[in-house]
Amino acid sequence: MTMTRRDLAGLAGGALLAGAATANAATPATGGNVTPTPAQQKLIDAAQDVRQRAYAPYSHFQVGAALETEDGTIFKGCNVENLSYGATICAERNAVFQAVAAGHKKFKAIAVIADLPTPITPCGMCRQVLGEFGGETEVICTNLKKDVMVSSVGALLPAAFDFDPSKYK
Ligand code: THU
Repeated sequence: MTMTRRDLAGLAGGALLAGAATANAATPATGGNVTPTPAQQKLIDAAQDVRQRAYAPYSHFQVGAALETEDGTIFKGCNVENLSYGATICAERNAVFQAVAAGHKKFKAIAVIADLPTPITPCGMCRQVLGEFGGETEVICTNLKKDVMVSSVGALLPAAFDFDPSKYK
């Protein structure tokens, strides 16, 4: 069965407007006191490894991501910036696109790493792209200090953009 964005978890009715009155600004993620399992650590190590290849001459902010598919294959991605700044690709989407290009669409987990005081969480665009393939994907957020926070795509994107394309023919 093909996974679509409609498979996203956490899209309960009314979720879109819930909290709208109080949440005027995005709040940064906190936390990071989880001890990773060996499988999670393997993914973190892969993300840390590819982070060294980030091309970030403008922001000087290097990000690494490692995505594990259903069959255990790991795809790595780093951020690749561009002088036309909007053409930049984040590490997470780079990893997802490489996996899709290799024929994978079911993802177990993604690890993301950067040099931040708290674990890096994927940007909104990357959450939406990950959500295209299901909300169950585990998101392992970490930093160079080895703080680890574990979440899921659905939990990180509770009010994802969603519509049924078949209704707009
Ligand atoms: N970046 C990522 O690679 N992933 C994220 O989740 C957030 C931001 C990159 C994009 C850009 O190259 C740099 O970090 C600064 O925004």
